[in-house]
Amino acid sequence: MTRIGFDKYEDFYARRTGCMRSSVMRDLMAVTAMPDVISLAGGLPSTESFPAKTLARVTHEVATKACAAALQYGPTEGLEETKANIARVMEAENTLVNTDNIIVTTGGQQAIDLVCRILINPGDLVITEAPTYPGAIPSLCSFEANVIQVPLDEDGFRTDLLKDTLEKLKRAGTKPKFIYTIPNFHNPAGVSISRQRRLEMIAMARDYGLIIVEDNPYGQLRFEGEQLPTLYSLDQDDNVIYLSTFSKIISPGIRLGWLVAPPPILQKINLGKQAADLCPSTLAQMIVNEYFREARWQDYVEKVTRVYHKRRDAMLAALEKYFPEEAVWTHPRGGFFIWVTLPEYLNTVDLLALAVEEQKVAFVPGSGGWVDGSGANHMRLAFCGVPEDKIEEGIKRLAKVIREQMDLYRALRG
Ligand SMILES: Cc1ncc(COP(=O)(O)O)c(C=O)c1O
Repeated sequence: MTRIGFDKYEDFYARRTGCMRSSVMRDLMAVTAMPDVISLAGGLPSTESFPAKTLARVTHEVATKACAAALQYGPTEGLEETKANIARVMEAENTLVNTDNIIVTTGGQQAIDLVCRILINPGDLVITEAPTYPGAIPSLCSFEANVIQVPLDEDGFRTDLLKDTLEKLKRAGTKPKFIYTIPNFHNPAGVSISRQRRLEMIAMARDYGLIIVEDNPYGQLRFEGEQLPTLYSLDQDDNVIYLSTFSKIISPGIRLGWLVAPPPILQKINLGKQAADLCPSTLAQMIVNEYFREARWQDYVEKVTRVYHKRRDAMLAALEKYFPEEAVWTHPRGGFFIWVTLPEYLNTVDLLALAVEEQKVAFVPGSGGWVDGSGANHMRLAFCGVPEDKIEEGIKRLAKVIREQMDLYRALRG
């Protein structure tokens, strides 16, 4: 975004624009699109793996057989067939859902935004992991949430610290509007919440009377290990709102996601969606529905997961080979991301500038996952969008910048 010294429209803006934040990933799009930069920044699905012939066939089918309907407005909650397909996708994660409880959204991002729109009053508390999905922060901030971030570790959300936080809030006579969590192959941390901790979270939701917002775009992209139950499937008390998207299992360009919620919440979400954009794209839904009819949707997911698996292995091997021993990183069992923790004296925002300028390699600085900008010594590395040879080269270049900065620090400290 261009910085303007004096803004003559200053007096026109709503107060909430003062709290609006840009997502660090969006800011990095321009840098990472530069052809000579190896981008380990964007969580870009491997769309080049998508079968172009299938897309051509299903698009042709929709255009020739149902052109007028595809070009028309549709119901706010989405087409019945889309919702039935969503139920099938969720069933693949052993999560049974009544299609009446589904609303189709414009990507998973809109699902997050709609939840914020209908639940948050300015100053309301929301609990997230620390770090959280950088793209959730602009929505939370736009609706002026007061965000409390609770650390995670290799087993995901630290439920012991979550409980401490809830107790503290209870003593102060308050509680959060909701807990936002990414249980599988977390963005940006790459970790998953263990079965035990999932059960604890569901118990806390019941005991403290809380809503959990479960955001699960990556659950189907597992390389190894047993599938873990969704929080939604564990919940017996209608305390979980479930969000997901077709972005990682078909394509982000389709811009279709979904939200599952108890009927009263869904009614409000529907009103919010009407205000936001009337309805999800009918054309995109009909293409997806035709795709579900024509192809076995799991085929592409299985294919692309094999691609990501190899890329993850390449990144882990390169990190082992090139990164200094002071660095530690997560070992994701699926998804897109590895989370690296560097010595505390390093600042990854500064490091990014050097990495792009001197070595033509990019990543997401860890501070993007914190509302208050902390987490400066972390970085998110995406292995999904780059072939193995480039991953190795990117990590090698990045290691060079990190080592130089560490040497500089040591020299300055004597
Ligand atoms: C955790 C999480 N939630 C939501 C989204 C947004 O999904 P969509 O591209 O469908 O809007 C993403 C995208 O990267 C994500 O990682």
